[in-house]
Amino acid sequence: MNRKNHWDNVYAGKSTSALGWYELHLRTSLSWIKALNLAVDAPLIDVGGGASTLVDDLLDAGHRSITVLDISEQALSSARTRLGKKADLVTWLAEDITSVELPAHRYAVWHDRAVFHFLTELEQQRQYRANLVHALQPGGLLIIGTFALEAPPRCSGLPVHRYSQEQLSNTLGEEFKLVKHHKELHVTPGGVEQVYLYCQFSKD
Ligand SMILES: C[S@@+](CC[C@H](N)C(=O)[O-])C[C@H]1O[C@@H](n2cnc3c(N)ncnc32)[C@H](O)[C@@H]1O
Repeated sequence: MNRKNHWDNVYAGKSTSALGWYELHLRTSLSWIKALNLAVDAPLIDVGGGASTLVDDLLDAGHRSITVLDISEQALSSARTRLGKKADLVTWLAEDITSVELPAHRYAVWHDRAVFHFLTELEQQRQYRANLVHALQPGGLLIIGTFALEAPPRCSGLPVHRYSQEQLSNTLGEEFKLVKHHKELHVTPGGVEQVYLYCQFSKD
């Protein structure tokens, strides 16, 4: 099965709140973004945003230049339905982050919770990184949450690559300077413990 079908089936098979990575609010991501004190028109992209409520919370905080990208149209459709009319304030991209063409130096913030770790092949990581370097503004920020080394080796039926902050820094390359990091225990609705590593990087 290709990746798009896999993710569409995942979202079609369960309610959003039953998905393993579900959180009512992405508290760490939101508090890190709020701490940046960005202008409300600063362009933000949530890569692999799925059906998460980060977009709702960013809209409520006044942000008006938000892009949500996900390989699964099903996931984006759930988010749009939830948001109703407010969905028109958001740019929705049903695309694969390893192949999409994004505008150069567009985004002030690139957010990714639990997406990059599914790229287990070097070539996929290289393509993701090339898009990140291309689309993030100079001085832009990357906020990324991956499985930490202590987390299980699989998620949603797929293998994941687990990271320490040093490994993530090395994988992203020298353009990205680690600003801060934080580990967090997430318990899935089914009771499985997953330790996440959140990192904030700035792009030179
Ligand atoms: C574990 S979920 C996390 C969703 C969301 N970030 C959150 O925290 O609730 C992973 C998401 O990444 C999306 N995804 C997986 N591979 C992708 C890819 N290559 N390009 C874009 N999105 C992808 C999936 O459809 C799914 O919505």
